[in-house]
Amino acid sequence: MFVVVDWLGPSRRPEERTPLESVGDGPTANVVSDHDLTSADPEEKPFTAKADTTEKTFKYWKKRLTLFSMFDKGVLLDEESFYSVCPEVLASYMAKKCGNIKVAVDPFCGAGGNVIQLAKMFDKVIAMDIDPEKILLAKHNSIIYEVFNKIEFIVGDFFTMANQIKGDVIVTSPLWGGPDYNETPVIGPLQLSLDKILAVGKTVAPKILLHLPKNIDKFECLKMCNGIGAEVRKVENVFMDRYLNSTLLYVRSNNVSYKLLCIAYLINLILDIN
Ligand SMILES: C[S@@+](CC[C@H](N)C(=O)[O-])C[C@H]1O[C@@H](n2cnc3c(N)ncnc32)[C@H](O)[C@@H]1O
Repeated sequence: MFVVVDWLGPSRRPEERTPLESVGDGPTANVVSDHDLTSADPEEKPFTAKADTTEKTFKYWKKRLTLFSMFDKGVLLDEESFYSVCPEVLASYMAKKCGNIKVAVDPFCGAGGNVIQLAKMFDKVIAMDIDPEKILLAKHNSIIYEVFNKIEFIVGDFFTMANQIKGDVIVTSPLWGGPDYNETPVIGPLQLSLDKILAVGKTVAPKILLHLPKNIDKFECLKMCNGIGAEVRKVENVFMDRYLNSTLLYVRSNNVSYKLLCIAYLINLILDIN
């Protein structure tokens, strides 16, 4: 069961309930792809990579259809992606929340959980990751979901290459630091570099939707956003299988309203002079 509850607003009813496919036990053997991950054309070259299903990732592998409903069609994940990918039902929910836009950006795209769902809804998606292996996985997985052609893949560091991308919205999960994040009672926004991500993100798109750990300090997030000229529009708690799973933070850049304020101030000034 997937439920989202508005954390800031008055006690609203859960907005969406989507039954998740039940998953059975399966073989621990590696999944092998038919596609060459280094090629844009799936039929061009022979296979060069395999999914990483180890003892550590088996727990996540058992929930593979929650991560990707088409997992058994050949989706590939490395160890880190098994625990960091955004589950499909949530990635789809996040995409639907973007409204009427054309270009969506995920600057920390990983193996493609978010970008695939964004590409199903929008004309164009820009997918960036600092790790070239992740881009290969995201390319491969987007081919399985038949959205490869809508995605522009870039290997690079968001903080140094942000000036090369522009979009209407950023939808992303920054690095949470692995499953260990669960052992800390509260995570501050600075621990995840959210200040830096939002400050740079604002220059790329006016709207930012962040998928964050369940134990993120929400009050600190509100304070931090105020300090960097961004506004938190909404915070949602995400429940999966009745357990608190993660947090969604909807942020909007204040630049536009600041510009409007300046224009209004100038008009007032001119009227006063006259
Ligand atoms: C939590 S994962 C993203 C998962 C993704 N949303 C999904 O659903 O598959 C975060 C990703 O950020 C990437 N990353 C970390 N630092 C980065 C940077 N400075 N620029 C771009 N990508 C970065 C990591 O390689 C990792 O793949």
